[in-house]
This record gives sequence, C-alpha cells and structure tokens, in this order.
Amino acid sequence: MQTKKVLPRWCMGIIFLAHSIAICAALFMAWLLRFDFTLPYPRLLLSALPILVTVRLAVLYCYKLSHGYWRYTGIGGLSRLMQATFFGSLVFFAVMRGVGGIQGIPYSIYVLEGILAFLSLAGIRRGLRRFFRARRLHSGLVRLPVLIVGAGVAAARLIRELEKSNYIAIGLVDDDPQKLDAKLCGVPVLGSIDQLPRLARALCIGEILIAIPSATGVELLRITDFCQQAGVPFRTLPGLMELTDGRVSLSELRNVNLEDLLGRELANPQTEDVQTMLIGRVVMVTGAAGSIGSELCRQIVRCGPMKLICVDQAETPLFNLQQHVLINSKVEIIYSVTDITDTERMRQLLLEHNVCVIFHAAAYKHVPITEDNLYEGLKNNVFGLLDLVEAAEQAQCEDFLLISTDKAVKPSSVMGCTKRLGEMMISAREPARMRCLAVRFGNVLGSQGSVIPVFQEQIRTRRCITVTHPEMTRYFITIPEAVSLVLQAFTVGEHGDILVLKMGRPVRILDLAKTLIRMSGKEESEIEIVYSGMRPGEKLYEELFYDSEVRLPTPLAEVMRAQDSLPAWPVLSCRLRELQVLAYDKNPNLIRAKIKQIIPTYQWEPEVPPPEMLSHTAVFAEAFKLADQDY
Ligand SMILES: NC(=O)c1ccc[n+]([C@@H]2O[C@H](COP(=O)([O-])OP(=O)(O)OC[C@H]3O[C@@H](n4cnc5c(N)ncnc54)[C@H](O)[C@@H]3O)[C@@H](O)[C@H]2O)c1
Repeated sequence: MQTKKVLPRWCMGIIFLAHSIAICAALFMAWLLRFDFTLPYPRLLLSALPILVTVRLAVLYCYKLSHGYWRYTGIGGLSRLMQATFFGSLVFFAVMRGVGGIQGIPYSIYVLEGILAFLSLAGIRRGLRRFFRARRLHSGLVRLPVLIVGAGVAAARLIRELEKSNYIAIGLVDDDPQKLDAKLCGVPVLGSIDQLPRLARALCIGEILIAIPSATGVELLRITDFCQQAGVPFRTLPGLMELTDGRVSLSELRNVNLEDLLGRELANPQTEDVQTMLIGRVVMVTGAAGSIGSELCRQIVRCGPMKLICVDQAETPLFNLQQHVLINSKVEIIYSVTDITDTERMRQLLLEHNVCVIFHAAAYKHVPITEDNLYEGLKNNVFGLLDLVEAAEQAQCEDFLLISTDKAVKPSSVMGCTKRLGEMMISAREPARMRCLAVRFGNVLGSQGSVIPVFQEQIRTRRCITVTHPEMTRYFITIPEAVSLVLQAFTVGEHGDILVLKMGRPVRILDLAKTLIRMSGKEESEIEIVYSGMRPGEKLYEELFYDSEVRLPTPLAEVMRAQDSLPAWPVLSCRLRELQVLAYDKNPNLIRAKIKQIIPTYQWEPEVPPPEMLSHTAVFAEAFKLADQDY
C-alpha cells in the first residue's frame, strides 16, 4: 500500500487554478449583468474578489469537492456542488457585510454570483465528463467505471487484472482510516464502506466489486446492503483459500450468494487427520443421494478410501450422484439402491464389501410429514437404525457415525424424537469392537426441501413468501462446512459420544426471507410476506444442547462434546422394542405416550389421557416400572 496523496501536486495546482478562474469569472459576469455590461466601482470589485475566492475554495474543500475526479460527476455530485455554492454565498455575504462592513455591493450581485458560480463549476465538471466520454467512444474503448470494496492484497491483484479489461477502477473504499486518501496501484481510497452509495452515485459507477475474501457473513451482509442502497450491480471475489492460491481473475468474480452471507469463516479443514482415518478403508454412506450424504461422498472420495458404498433408496438421485458429483472419482464406488430397513440386504452389503466405516445420513427429516406418518418415521429413523447398528457390529465394522440434528434437543416433533432416540442408542451401546458416535448440528443451507429453495421459488414466481412466524429463528451452516466438521469430529470422537458442531448465531427466518428478496434484485415491498403460523411439531427456536448436558471441549474448536446421563443399553433396548410393538398398532396417542416415557423432554401432552396405555399388557406395565427405576 502506497501512502502518497491522491493526486500529484501539479494536478492539485490545476484544480485550484480552474476553480479560482471559474469563481472570478462568475463575479465579473454578475457585475456586468447588474451594471448593464459595465464595470463600475472597480476597487470594490477587486477587494471582494480575493475574499470570494478564499471563501468558495474553503467551502469546496469542506464539501470534499476539490478532488480531481470531475469527469465522474453525476447528479449526486451536482447536488452537493449546489449545496456548497449556496453555503459559500451565505458565508461570502456574512463576511462582506458583517465582518468587513462593506455595504456597497447590491444584493442582486450576491444572488447572480451564486448562480453563475454554480453554473461555471458544474460546467467544468460536465464538460470534462463529455470530453472524456467522447474520447473513449472515439477510441472505441468504453470502459465501465467500477468501485472496489476493500483496499488489501486481493484488491491490488484485482486492479492489475482490471487493467487488461473493459473495466476501469475509479476508487476504493475501506473502513481502515489509515488507508483513507492513500493509493493502491494508483487507485485512490476515496472513503469508508458506508460511503459507497454516495460515492457510487457521485462518480456514476457502473459496478461495485467486493474484494474482501476474508469477510465474514455479517460483514458481507453489511457491504451488500450498501451496494443495494447504491443501486449498482455488484459482484464479489470468492473465498480466502482460492485467493491464496494466487488465482484472482475476473472470471472468478461472481454474484454474492446466500452461503457468503450466512456462512462463517470456515474452520481449518484438518484434512490430513481425516485422510489418515479413511485412507485404504471401505466406507459406506447411507442416504448417499441426499444433501448431506452426497457432500459426505464428495469429501470422502478425496481422502482415498479403498472403496465407497453409496446406499440410498432413491434411484434417480443416486444416478445424479453418480453422473454429477462423483463422475471423475478414481475411487471404486458401488451405487446400491437399497432401503436401509431391509436388514438382510444391508447385512449382505456389509459382508460382501467388508465395510469398515459407516456414515449414516439416511433418514426422514421433514417435521410435518413425519408428524402425519408416525410409524414410517419410527421405522426408518429408529428401528432401521437399530437393526443397522446390530448388523454392522455383527459384520465387524469398526466405526459408525450417526448424523443427528438440533431437532433432537427437547423435541417437539416425532421427527426430533426419532433423532433423539438415535442419539440415545448410539450413546448407550456398550463398548464393543465398533466405535459408535453421533454428530448433532442445526439446519444446513439449501438442502433439499429446506426453507431457502422454497423461498427462492416463491420469489422467482413473484408469489408471496410464507414465513411461519415473525420471531422464528434457526441455526444455519453450509453443507460443505457441516460435512467437513462431521469428518473432523469423526477423527476425535470416542465411543458413545454425542458431538455438537458450533453453529454461530441463530438467524431469524424473516430476516433470511428479506435478504433473499433483496439478493434477487427486488425491493422488499415487491414481495408480500405472509405468516402461515407454526405447524404441528414445529418450534419457534431450536437449541443445540439439553439443559442437563455438560458441554465439554474437544481437540477441535468447532466441535463440543455433550455429556449427559442417559438410560443404560439394556433398559433402552427393552423400551425401544416395546415401542416397536406399539408402533404396529398405529395408535398415535399410545406411540407418543411411549416416546414421552423414553424421552421425558418430548414436548407433547396427550389430548385424552390414554388409560389403556398402562393396561395394554401386563408385560409393558412391568417393563415400564423396571425401566423407571433405572432412570
Ligand atoms: N437438512 C438439514 O438441515 C439437516 C441438519 C442437520 C441434520 N440433518 C440430518 O441429516 C440427515 C440427512 O439430511 P438431508 O438434508 O441430507 O436429507 P435428504 O432428504 O436430502 O437426504 C436423505 C437421503 O436419505 C435417503 N433415505 C431416506 N430413507 C432411506 C432408507 N430407508 N433407505 C435408504 N435411503 C434412505 C433419501 O432417499 C435421501 O436421499 C437427516 O438425518 C437429517 O435429520 C439434516
């Protein structure tokens, strides 16, 4: 970063001279117009002249209109010039009449001089603007004026790239006060980031380029807000890691996306440890074709496993995984269209391929759907998991990782309960050859069927956006970040661990909707926001931990260990098998009551107390009593 002044001294001299000539000319013209094209009272005129020039130059300086970028003066710049001229006239009048006691100059001269001064100063600016535009057009090179946000290394690289392009960097904005008025590769730092709208209008900027790869989501949100206020298109450079590779090029400039705004600074991806844990092993991913499963597959194949078994019941998404995500992979990959609740087939797969590691992401995840499909939710997310863990243990697997969710904390939905039961199962299993652990985290951005794609579709079709509740908040994490942290957690987790990813601050869904509207280039007023009310099983806000859980650190800053006293495996397995028997009855009240017995924090109250529950069978009554003692 150079620390020279914005313009060279000779240039400042020309600006000073041009301003002074315009101001003198305005006073002479006013005199001529007032006195019928004669110049009477020459001594009065000549004594007023230096005072007028001094006052006007000082006011122009105060209004920051002494810079030399006149050719970029737009409507905003002219309006500031008008204000400065008016204020200068007031000061000139006050100095002449009040301080100097000079009463001889008629009022009309003050008015005429003010008008003429504005016209001449504005004339210089607009004239230069036309001249340079004509010259550019004549040379056949029309370069789009751009402002760059950030005055660091990335901006310097970008400026060099712009030199070879049809863009011209007019200036930079940066919040570091020490950089103000300095130059980076010859381009001046014109102000702070909050001055973007004013500068963009004043300098007729065609596009704003954000060159702060280290910016956090919150910082980017603030910058894009200013860009939107400026009413100018904007693009950003990608993240820090790509830049340090030295790959700054114009083609890398892209639109700011939601991941940029809600994503956090990515934790150090300790890929070496993950690689050591996976290299040369046979890895299975269930739910491989889903949002999290497919990213797991993408990141796992980079670690060089001996074989990857992708299991999913959905055939077309599995085909897409093969064709689009893993197409160039060198690793041997088996795509198996299998339902994980088909225990026999799963057992076969595990034995046939000697699977060592399982990442279990297959599940039903939609709260309202699972609420109406209790049995299916339990069958898939609980009993399917129970049988799979047992089959994996019998097949001599070594590691089993369950993907869990913050909906498992104090669940208000059956879906949340199924995930909690999964966590309890993983945590309670007695240590054997197979290490079992669960990783819990909040919503991932843009997963299939999640709120963001739904909002985007509603905005695209110009329908109203439906928000459940104005105060509803959720934790968000990007899919690559969540999966990277899951893999890192896999390297540090011990048997029975429930590991929780740090998630940053929760985001209000209403704010998310508004951000998406603005990012789509529309005004908030263009799309109506309708509140649909909370659906059964939904919560206003999610939590990452139970109150009873002790939060212990792990070697990874982004991963915490949640420690709690949970029922022992014999009790839990007995209750789960009871639940399985009850589930066949498909009596929702009975099922929910049983779930509440296993998860006392389940936020559900029976509408009608189910008296038949305890009298259902004497066996259950006995089992409940026994289990309660163990809690
Ligand atoms: N999406 C999120 O925001 C989020 C956040 C935290 C945790 N999770 C958890 O991660 C897991 C995966 O979520 P996702 O967003 O990737 O969901 P998704 O619906 O995109 O993917 C789930 C995949 O599992 C498959 N599947 C479901 N049941 C199956 C079965 N019986 N046999 C074989 N395949 C089956 C589906 O076909 C689908 O491809 C879920 O357990 C979810 O609770 C999701």
